[in-house]
Amino acid sequence: MRAGRQLKIKYYVEPDPASLARRAAQYFVEMAGEAIGAYGRARIAISGGSTPKAVFELLADPNQPWRARMPWEKLDLYWVDERSVPPGHADSNYRMTREALLDHVPLRPKQIHRIEGELDPQAAAARYESELRSSFRLKGAASPRFDLVALGMGKDGHTASLFPHTEAIHEMSRLAVANHVPQLDAWRVTLTWPVINHARSVFFIISGEDKAAVLPEVLTGPLDPERLPSQLIWPSSGILTFILDKAAAALLPATDAEGCGVLERER
Ligand code: 6PG
Repeated sequence: MRAGRQLKIKYYVEPDPASLARRAAQYFVEMAGEAIGAYGRARIAISGGSTPKAVFELLADPNQPWRARMPWEKLDLYWVDERSVPPGHADSNYRMTREALLDHVPLRPKQIHRIEGELDPQAAAARYESELRSSFRLKGAASPRFDLVALGMGKDGHTASLFPHTEAIHEMSRLAVANHVPQLDAWRVTLTWPVINHARSVFFIISGEDKAAVLPEVLTGPLDPERLPSQLIWPSSGILTFILDKAAAALLPATDAEGCGVLERER
């Protein structure tokens, strides 16, 4: 974990998963709008899992306010990670995103930069790195700077496909790597944590009581990223945002009247 010594953690607690999804949809639209206003485009990396699915469905729903507000033509969509499975596989993050979002919104194929899970994991990681370098027009050892990275967190403290005690935790020079996850007996492809930390804005979307125990460990407990890889996420901006539901936030310090809490970390 490089960047600054200080980290300001802002967490927003919503009463239930549905209102968490609404706040996250609003956050996506706001952050995309800010990036487009400043840079002409919004390059966003999204995660898989069940929590983002509800958010994507809201963004895609023509009967909800966000679909019309999102400037889709100015978005470039990337993935934080992917399972090493074909794009039509039930476990595929791309498939989940296609069904919940891509099939329902006006994104052209060239705006969608998927990780090719159907390939050998090492080859998929290398091709994704090439895609990142070409689409961000990177030179030399430059790192892509996403405008927004949306993360989830597992109850084991993993994020992206950075699982406890796996090799990818130690990767600091590559943009994306293949990571074998013994806990799942599976291969994944994931952005590396320095790339995630280089983003202009990083936020977690976390729901459910099964995350309640790990959250305070990650946010306020001793730094132990081997055991709690989510602690690797320390954005160079010095700010990290969490959008939580009440069940996930049950063991965090109480929020203010607006449902917002702030924690400061130092290392
Ligand atoms: C994945 C995700 C992963 C996810 C967490 C939380 O590929 O599964 O990138 O890191 O964000 O496992 O998943 P839930 O949102 O389903 O709890």
